[in-house]
Amino acid sequence: MNEPCGPVAVMSHSPERTIELGRRAGALLRGGETVSLIGELGSGKTRFAQGVAQGLGVKDIVVSPTFLIHRTYHGRIALHHFDFYRLTSEMDLESVGFFDFQAENPPSVVVVEWADKFPEALDEPILQVRFHLGPQETDRSVQFSPCGLAPGLWEALAGEVQTP
Ligand SMILES: Nc1ncnc2c1ncn2[C@@H]1O[C@H](COP(=O)(O)OP(=O)(O)O)[C@@H](O)[C@H]1O
Ligand SMILES: [Mg+2]
Repeated sequence: MNEPCGPVAVMSHSPERTIELGRRAGALLRGGETVSLIGELGSGKTRFAQGVAQGLGVKDIVVSPTFLIHRTYHGRIALHHFDFYRLTSEMDLESVGFFDFQAENPPSVVVVEWADKFPEALDEPILQVRFHLGPQETDRSVQFSPCGLAPGLWEALAGEVQTP
């Protein structure tokens, strides 16, 4: 299901701005959402995830989960940060508890880097964020699309990320 009002694309000109976009999105999340991060190596997925953590009130430093596949952080809502880069099959997702985290009660937020490797594994509601490089070295286009988000959430998110 795709909301009629997506997607929304914005430009980020610095890593700080990408973190800020994540923070603004994270501040609005209610729990239960999966944040799907898609884009090549170095496009800003981890930076954005660090911002989401800040927006969720996480005080710990968020690092790339590439080698561990998954890390959990505690803020106003729990955050499970995944990186599918090294996963070779959807079976692995089962063994790292991915599906349990998505269905957790009380609801947490699941952030997934390289989410396009196993798109079928993601449960709605989903906030998809796609990153593209260039033209300048510190330019990133950041495209947000909603999928089954709670009423009002997408409108609020779209407004926040388009605010300078
Ligand atoms: N506008 C930008 N947004 C995000 N990162 C940027 C930007 N400009 C430069 N960078 C740099 O690009 C790299 C992004 O790294 P990271 O977020 O780990 O990417 P990924 O997780 O997608 O591999 C960092 O070194 C960061 O400093
Ligand atoms: Mg990363």
